[in-house]
Amino acid sequence: MPLIIETDSLRREFGETTAVDELSLSVEEGSVLALVGPNGAGKTTLLRMLSALLEPTSGTARVDGFDVRERPREVHSRLGFMPDFAGLYENLLVREYLRYFCLAYRLPEDLSEMRVSETLSLVGLSARAEQAVETLSRGMRQKLNLARTLLHSPKLLLLDEPAAGLDPGARREVQLLMRELSRQGKTIVVSSHILSELEDYCTHVAILDRGRLIFSGSLEEARRILGKKRHMRLRAASGMEAALALLQARPEVRKAQRSGADILFELAGNDADAASILKALVEKGVSVSFFGEAAGTIQDSYLSLMGEER
Ligand SMILES: Nc1ncnc2c1ncn2[C@@H]1O[C@H](COP(=O)(O)OP(=O)(O)OP(=O)(O)O)[C@@H](O)[C@H]1O
Ligand SMILES: [Mg+2]
Repeated sequence: MPLIIETDSLRREFGETTAVDELSLSVEEGSVLALVGPNGAGKTTLLRMLSALLEPTSGTARVDGFDVRERPREVHSRLGFMPDFAGLYENLLVREYLRYFCLAYRLPEDLSEMRVSETLSLVGLSARAEQAVETLSRGMRQKLNLARTLLHSPKLLLLDEPAAGLDPGARREVQLLMRELSRQGKTIVVSSHILSELEDYCTHVAILDRGRLIFSGSLEEARRILGKKRHMRLRAASGMEAALALLQARPEVRKAQRSGADILFELAGNDADAASILKALVEKGVSVSFFGEAAGTIQDSYLSLMGEER
């Protein structure tokens, strides 16, 4: 896959602070990259440099082959950046707000009308089109922000903590939306300080700490390196005892135990190991009705890695 983002020794200083430190990162077209790191790690600074909104102190960054410093216009036309705090124009109606950004993107009049309707429907805000921005809830505002970054059909989306401050239901909606956008072929870079939230739909992971890139790779590699163990859940219509015995006998399985109607266990292995266990269970005659990862899996390992770094 061609690279849509390439940075080489990218650096940004603010006075004494080095917000992004000699960062070399590449992102393949079509991937969904989770950009994770604690507060102050440099996520926003990196995204703003990639969006050609903030000058690097040194090093280079290219988006779709265009240098962010030399060709900011080309960069702007190819990406949609959703900032962590977007000032919304409170008095405008939702539709007017988006029309306003169509003008900023210099979209032709006839196309604007259509794009506004399309993006409103994609983010699920069609019913709010004639409502004032100030009447929207936080979750709806986030969706409106996202709609705004999609108006000019960019191939790359840079989203700075799109799920911050949202309740679990709204977070889930954001996740589903990301998945849909990815299915439509967009490359997505999405930041968060909570890895488990992105784990569901990202294909790659980059971890930043104090401006430095401390890990970058596929989700599989991240799991191998970070997630020495995965928390798994099994449910079976029958054969739970046989399943428990089988799991307890496998060397890559730890702490297999009943929990209500389920069996929970830790797996020190990758997808292939999981597949092999599932096959063994089925061959044993266990009628498996659910076999998969319990939520919030590599977050713990990520936190412990951050701890080791310190
Ligand atoms: N405009 C600025 N002026 C001075 N320092 C800044 C500026 N922007 C960022 N910094 C500093 O750069 C470092 C990285 O900040 P950044 O906002 O990129 O981190 P972040 O990973 O996005 O954090 P958060 O999770 O809190 O959003 C921090 O030490 C921050 O204080
Ligand atoms: Mg930030």
